[in-house]
Amino acid sequence: MAQIIDGKAVSKQVRERVAEETRQLKEKGIVPGLAVIIVGDDPASQVYVRNKERACEEVGFYSEKFALPAETTQQQLNDLVCELNGRKEISGILCQLPLPKHLNDKEVINLIDPIKDVDAFHPVNVGAIMIGDYNFLPCTPAGVMELIHSTGVDVAGKKAVVIGRSNIVGKPQAMLLLHENATVEIVHSKTVDLAQETKTADILVAAVGKAKFVTADMVKEGAVVIDVGMNRDENGKLCGDVDFEGVKEKCSYITPVPGGVGPMTISMLMQNTLTAAKIQNNIKG
Ligand code: GUN
Repeated sequence: MAQIIDGKAVSKQVRERVAEETRQLKEKGIVPGLAVIIVGDDPASQVYVRNKERACEEVGFYSEKFALPAETTQQQLNDLVCELNGRKEISGILCQLPLPKHLNDKEVINLIDPIKDVDAFHPVNVGAIMIGDYNFLPCTPAGVMELIHSTGVDVAGKKAVVIGRSNIVGKPQAMLLLHENATVEIVHSKTVDLAQETKTADILVAAVGKAKFVTADMVKEGAVVIDVGMNRDENGKLCGDVDFEGVKEKCSYITPVPGGVGPMTISMLMQNTLTAAKIQNNIKG
């Protein structure tokens, strides 16, 4: 029976660390500030944005929300990003995705000043991660690494398998595991005999977006299993990409959904906003 990794507890530790550093920065007259842009009225996005605002309040940041109507034009959105790039009290800019279909998310991401790109989605930041010389780590993969560290398991030399190859999670996740000297494999929808591959993993990260996709027979005995999924099961109940009940009997550590990776993502966003404020004010460390 696995130990359950408590994402809420690890997340709280990160936020306390950020809050303490923020108190110290404020003594120097610096207040980290996050601008969050949301376009349209997608209910899930609204919940995420509200949670981001709450987290800012909790750690002592200044935050500003820009709730734009669904019919906002690309030009209006681009203009807002450019204005925020020039505002000193805004350390970080986040444009909540997905955007309504008529808007181009790449265009917006490319306009965000890389030093204010707290999602680490801008190609400059993505490239920096690739060569291991970065200011910001993408929030969800960085949160996953914190959770793995919390187990005390050493990543170096371990076989890590990432299920999913998205730009937001799968690809950067593989890179962060590689930076810590894991032997890394990405598997995806075109992988031949995916279960054969996942069974070799000492560390398995599931980011597929399919409810209970990973079953016990796909997992190596004693593996560390991290579930990035956020799905609804057949009864409408929140669940991950991993069949928690079955897999927990076989692995050594596992993250629950909810209460695993989810709380970490916003904490890492707070960490990145703090880092952005420090860089913009020439504060080292
Ligand atoms: N939508 C879902 N996850 C994210 C995220 O991490 N950042 C942004 N900007 N939008 C998202």
